[in-house]
Amino acid sequence: MKPATATSRPLPIVVLLSGSGSNLQAIIDRIAEGKLSAEIKAVISNKADAYGLKRATKAKIPTELIEHSQFDSRESFDTRLIQTIDKYQPELIVLAGFMRILSDQFVAHYYGRMINIHPSLLPRHRGLHTHRQVLEAGDSEHGLSIHYVSPELDGGPVILQTRVPVLAGDNENTLSSRVLTQEHQSYPKVIQWIAENRLQLSGNQVLLDGKPI
Ligand code: GAR
Repeated sequence: MKPATATSRPLPIVVLLSGSGSNLQAIIDRIAEGKLSAEIKAVISNKADAYGLKRATKAKIPTELIEHSQFDSRESFDTRLIQTIDKYQPELIVLAGFMRILSDQFVAHYYGRMINIHPSLLPRHRGLHTHRQVLEAGDSEHGLSIHYVSPELDGGPVILQTRVPVLAGDNENTLSSRVLTQEHQSYPKVIQWIAENRLQLSGNQVLLDGKPI
């Protein structure tokens, strides 16, 4: 990746999602506002009813539907996914609510070029229903993590964490919307760091402007 300058081309990205796509929308909006130097080459979903596909179409972004239920193994699904993503030649793969466990082959293919956003302060609360996990654990704070994707589920090197308080009377809905609001700020910010070539992955260490994060 070349350092971004006022005249350099926007970072080509592909976004993978399975659901509402509110993080996709935040990325689309920041690009439209000129605050994020990226171009979404395609949005790919494994779910036909993902609302994120509608958001992409509205923004005139190419969409692809690859339904995992049509494949007889994780590997064959992931192979098709790789073929589809690579057609668009992205420099960054952005997982935005893509609810699939990825094969080692898939992760290795994109290692250092694929990021995920997860609604918890990793390593706490991996997997699903993180807001419920936080409430059940009685945590006083919650948040989100953006990380490079590694073979370990929700386990790759963390780039950025944003914290929110857990308030008296919170339920899963109030917590999830407080975290989502922060997700929409944090994800475009990290993608912009990558577009500006400010982030590096050195082994398991994430560097921002050459310094450990
Ligand atoms: C977001 O909260 C994201 O952090 C989470 O799914 C939601 C997608 O929302 N991702 C994961 O749980 C991944 N393990 P969105 O479709 O509205 O962007």
